[in-house]
Amino acid sequence: ADVSKGEYQDYLEKEIFEQPESIRRAFGNGGRLDRDFGTARLGGIELNGSQIRNIRQAHFIGMGTAMYAGQVGARMMEGLARISSHTLDASELRWSNPIVEDDSVYFALSQSGETLDTLLAVKELQNRGGRVYGIINAVGSTIARACGAGVYIHAGPEVSVASTKAFTGQITSMFLLALSFGRIRHLSPSEGKRLIDALELIPDQINQILAQSAQVQDIARRFKHATSFMYLGRGVSYPIAMEGALKLKELSYLHAEGFSSGNLKHGPLALIDETVPSLFIAPEGDTLDKVISNIQEVKARKGPVITVTNADSRELEELSDALIRVPKCPEILSPLLTIVPLQLFALYLTRELGRNVDQPRNLAKSVTTD
Ligand code: G6P
Repeated sequence: ADVSKGEYQDYLEKEIFEQPESIRRAFGNGGRLDRDFGTARLGGIELNGSQIRNIRQAHFIGMGTAMYAGQVGARMMEGLARISSHTLDASELRWSNPIVEDDSVYFALSQSGETLDTLLAVKELQNRGGRVYGIINAVGSTIARACGAGVYIHAGPEVSVASTKAFTGQITSMFLLALSFGRIRHLSPSEGKRLIDALELIPDQINQILAQSAQVQDIARRFKHATSFMYLGRGVSYPIAMEGALKLKELSYLHAEGFSSGNLKHGPLALIDETVPSLFIAPEGDTLDKVISNIQEVKARKGPVITVTNADSRELEELSDALIRVPKCPEILSPLLTIVPLQLFALYLTRELGRNVDQPRNLAKSVTTD
């Protein structure tokens, strides 16, 4: 690509550091926000009020990082719009004989707009009468054209194979979508305004996280001899655990697994000892107390713990071998903040190991075979 790395060592670093700007573009530099009504306006979603009120199910489909973004989106749609929401692995859709109902709506997520598994899933749904909207970065791409309507995330060209700014752009777009559907359904204007105010703070809050990148680099150095990592979170942080683990495995070739922290004692706990670090995503909110008890379970097995949090908790500080602070925000928006240190951690650990950050072995930026 003819995009310059500028002052950065690699495209990955550049794209991570661009996120304050790319997220701002995803909300149209404010142009997609309606502060007076506490809602968002997305020109590409042409559903009217009564159609939105009648939606019974929302499905988010994609592959890789886009699929994990979809898992965040489903939680946002369920939480803000109270629409029963699910995420599907696009490659599996063709084998599930999907039931497509009139009151379902589908969203296809793709950075490149060229992923064949996602395209084939879109066509399968359309053949069965499904309405599919694209949440896409590459303008005019094959999936964008196949959908014919949707939201462009405007992240700008993403060159590094591991996806970063497209992920946060997709999450921002789905947040706008969930907010706008929510305001037509159950969400109050004051709640909508509160969320818009919080969203507008996110770019600066990411700048604050990026300003602490040296601390994340130190932590990556401390743990560079580990060969297996666990990533754990609950609720909206569960897909962040999955995506954090994906970033590390794609880039460093180390073993990394994401779990819901509730599933810890149903198997993964057997893997824990003093050589296996666990990264806990522990934002302030409904899930925090339960995540703290999961951390205690890991510490009881001598597992090193790295925590990403925005909570003021003495207990968390005492339990964690390393603690990365992110700014405060409503839990529903926390994925936009908590993923950033995990991206940086994967970048720095990979550099420590001397591996190619932008072009990991065996992977392609855009997979056009199925
Ligand atoms: C490839 C890339 C991943 C990406 C996935 C989906 O596997 O290596 O980084 O998440 O495809 O790509 P898309 O362009 O559809 O978002």
